[in-house]
Amino acid sequence: MPQMFCQVAIHICECFVPYAGKLRRFFLHPAEGRPNVLFLVVDDLRPELGCYGSPVITPNIDQLAIQSIRFTNAHAQQALCAPSRASFLTSRRPDTTKVYDLDTYWRNAGGNFTTLPQYFKENGYFTASMGKVFHNGTASNETDDYPYSWSVPAYHPSTTKYKRKKVCLSPDGTRHEYLLCPVDVSQQPEGTLPDIQLADNAISMIRNMSSGLKSTNASSHLPFFLGLGFYKPHVPFKFPKEFLSLYPIETIKMATNKNLPASLPDVAFETYSSLREREDIAALNLSFPYGPMPDKYHLLIRQHYYAAVSYVDAMIGRVLNALEQSSLADNTIIVLIGDHGWQLGEHSEFAKFSNYALATRVPLLIHVPPLLKTSFYQKKLTTFHFQDVFQNMPQQTEGSGKVSNAFVELVDIFPTIVDLAGLPSVSECPSVSHEIQLCTEGTSLLPLIKPVSAGAESMWKNCTFSQYPRPDIQPKNNTDVPKLKDIRIMGYTLQTKYYRFAEWLGFDTNTSKPDWSNVYARELYDLEKDVEENNNVADEPQYQLIIKNLTKALQKGWRNCKPL
Ligand SMILES: *[C@@H]1O[C@H](CO)[C@@H](O)[C@H](O)[C@H]1NC(C)=O
Ligand SMILES: *[C@@H]1O[C@H](CO)[C@@H](O)[C@H](O)[C@H]1NC(C)=O
Ligand SMILES: *[C@@H]1O[C@H](CO)[C@@H](O)[C@H](O)[C@H]1NC(C)=O
Ligand SMILES: *[C@@H]1O[C@H](CO)[C@@H](O)[C@H](O)[C@H]1NC(C)=O
Ligand SMILES: *[C@@H]1O[C@H](CO)[C@@H](O)[C@H](O)[C@H]1NC(C)=O
Ligand SMILES: *[C@@H]1O[C@H](CO)[C@@H](O)[C@H](O)[C@H]1NC(C)=O
Ligand SMILES: *[C@@H]1O[C@H](CO)[C@@H](O)[C@H](O)[C@H]1NC(C)=O
Ligand SMILES: *[C@@H]1O[C@H](CO)[C@@H](O)[C@H](O)[C@H]1NC(C)=O
Ligand SMILES: *[C@@H]1O[C@H](CO)[C@@H](O)[C@H](O)[C@H]1NC(C)=O
Ligand SMILES: *[C@@H]1O[C@H](CO)[C@@H](O)[C@H](O)[C@H]1NC(C)=O
Repeated sequence: MPQMFCQVAIHICECFVPYAGKLRRFFLHPAEGRPNVLFLVVDDLRPELGCYGSPVITPNIDQLAIQSIRFTNAHAQQALCAPSRASFLTSRRPDTTKVYDLDTYWRNAGGNFTTLPQYFKENGYFTASMGKVFHNGTASNETDDYPYSWSVPAYHPSTTKYKRKKVCLSPDGTRHEYLLCPVDVSQQPEGTLPDIQLADNAISMIRNMSSGLKSTNASSHLPFFLGLGFYKPHVPFKFPKEFLSLYPIETIKMATNKNLPASLPDVAFETYSSLREREDIAALNLSFPYGPMPDKYHLLIRQHYYAAVSYVDAMIGRVLNALEQSSLADNTIIVLIGDHGWQLGEHSEFAKFSNYALATRVPLLIHVPPLLKTSFYQKKLTTFHFQDVFQNMPQQTEGSGKVSNAFVELVDIFPTIVDLAGLPSVSECPSVSHEIQLCTEGTSLLPLIKPVSAGAESMWKNCTFSQYPRPDIQPKNNTDVPKLKDIRIMGYTLQTKYYRFAEWLGFDTNTSKPDWSNVYARELYDLEKDVEENNNVADEPQYQLIIKNLTKALQKGWRNCKPL
C-alpha cells in the first residue's frame, strides 16, 4: 500500500496517492454525508447586479455574493439559451454537442453525453429540475432530459403557457403581447407568474427535504441536487409592477456607447428579432436591421430589464431564506450563473445573439458552506411581500466577498461542482470524444476556490472561447437564431487580457468545422484602450502582427488557453 496523504480543503479531504509515477488525486467524504447542491440558472442575466458594481437593486444576490467567490471574468460558450445550456450541462463546447440552435438534442447530435445532474444522480443523489434548466422542447427531447438527468420529472410552472399570450394591459384597457409588461399579479391568469410559482415550488421541496417528507420519492437521507432555472429577465419583461417603481425613468441612463460602431462588420450584428416581434416594439416601425431604437425605448428597455432583475433577485431571496430556515444551508453548495449576457442598447444592439463580451459575459457565484458563513438575512421572511424584500436591506457594493478575476468559462462549472461535492473528478476530453459519455472540455475551478492555493489565479487560463453561428453575411430575418440547416458561417471569438478577437468563417455543419481559409470578417478590440469594444481595429496596419498571433491562437483552440 503506497503512502497516501491528505489535506483538508473546504469541507472535504483532498488526498493524493502515488500512482504510475504521478500523484493521483481523490477525495474522501466526511462521515455526515455529501453536500447538497443548489444550482441557480438565471435566463439572460448579464452581470447587472449590485455585487458587480451595477446600480441595479439586488440585495439578495449581493448577500449571497458576500458569502461566495464571485468570478468577474466568466464567459458562456454561445450567447443563446439552448446551446449554452447544453454546453455547460455536459461540459462540452458547441462544436462537440453540435447544439447551435433551439431545436437540437445533444444525445441525437453530438453524443450520449452524461450531464451534470445525471452524474450526481448516478452517484446517489436525488436530482430535481424546476423551471428552465435545460432548454425545453426538442432541445431536451420534450422531457428536460428526464429520466437521464433527473430522479423525478421536471417541474414547469403552469403559467409559462402565457408567455406569448396577450396578457399585458394597455392604457385603453385592452390586452396585448408587449415587450414592456409590468403587471398587477392578481389580474394575471391564475393570479401568479412563472418565477413566483417556481420559488414557491422550490421552497416547498426544500421544506419537504429538510423535514424528511417523501412526496416526490426523495429519500430524506439522500443528498440532493436541485436545478432551479428562473425565467426572467428574459423577454418579455413581465414582472410585478411594484418592481418598476424602484427605477424612476428619470434616473435611468442611456448606454454611453449607444451608437452603431462604424467598424462593425455586418455579420457580427444581431438584429434583436425577439424584441421586434412584440406589439409595442413592432409599432415603432424600426428600420431593419440597424434601427435605431428611439431613445425613449432605449431607456424603457433598460428600466424594465433592471426591474425584471430585481424581481428575480427577490424570488432567489425567498428560496435562499427557506434554505437557511430549513437548516440545510450549512451543507448546501450554491452556484448562481446567467446562461449568457444581454446587450442593453450598447452598440445600438439589444438582446444576445452575438459574440460581444456583453453577450457572452455572465455572473458566476460559487458558495461553499463551511468556507463562508451562511446567514442570508438579518431579517427573516416567512411570506413574500415586496416591501419586506427591499426594506432594511442595505445594498452591497462591489468588492465585498471573495473575488476572482481569472478567465473562466461555463464549461468549467461541471467539473467544479463535482470536485466541490467530492465525487470522482471528471477527466479532460480527448480531441474526439463523441463516444465518451463522461469527460470535460473545461477545467475545475477548485484551485481558485481553495484557500490553500492563493497563487492559482496567476497560473490560470489566459483566454476564453465563445462562438456564434450565422445564416449569411448580411443581416436577415433568421440572423439571430438560425436553424442548424441554415447555418453557413461561424463566428469564433477569444478573449485575452488585452484583446477580444473574432473571425467569422465559412462553416460546415456536417463536420462542425470551420474553413479557416474562408474568412468573411474579423474583429479586434484593443481592450486596454477600448474596454467597451466600440472600435474594431482589425483593419489597422499596426495590429496585423497581433492578428497573426491571435489567428493562430484561435486555430489552436481552447486547449491552448490552459497553463502548461
Ligand atoms: C445513453 O446513456 C444512458 C445513460 O448512461 C444509457 O442508459 C443509454 O442506454 C445510452 N443510450 C445509448 C443510445 O447509448
Ligand atoms: C417551453 O417553455 C416556454 C415558456 O418558457 C413555453 O412558452 C413553451 O410552450 C415551451 N415549449 C415547449 C415545446 O414545451
Ligand atoms: C426521445 O424521446 C423519444 C420519444 O419519446 C424516444 O423514443 C427517444 O428514445 C428519446 N431519446 C433518448 C435519447 O432517450
Ligand atoms: C411537499 O410535500 C407536500 C406534502 O406531501 C406535497 O403536497 C408537495 O407537493 C411537496 N412539494 C414538492 C415540491 O414536491
Ligand atoms: C414513486 O415511487 C413509486 C413506487 O416506487 C412509483 O410508482 C412512482 O412512479 C414514483 N413517483 C415518482 C414521481 O417518481
Ligand atoms: C408605423 O406604421 C404604421 C402603418 O404604416 C402607422 O400606422 C404608424 O403610425 C407607424 N408608427 C410610427 C411610430 O411611425
Ligand atoms: C424570412 O425571409 C425569407 C426570405 O427572405 C422568407 O421566405 C421567410 O418567410 C421570412 N420569414 C419570416 C418569419 O419572416
Ligand atoms: C451536408 O450533408 C447534407 C446531407 O448529407 C448534404 O446535402 C450537404 O451538401 C452537406 N453539406 C456540405 C457543406 O457538405
Ligand atoms: C507573436 O507571437 C510571437 C511568438 O509567440 C511573439 O514572439 C511575438 O511577440 C508576438 N507578437 C505580437 C505582436 O504579439
Ligand atoms: C496562453 O498560454 C499558452 C501556454 O502558456 C500559450 O501557448 C498561448 O500562446 C497563450 N495564448 C494566448 C492567447 O495568450
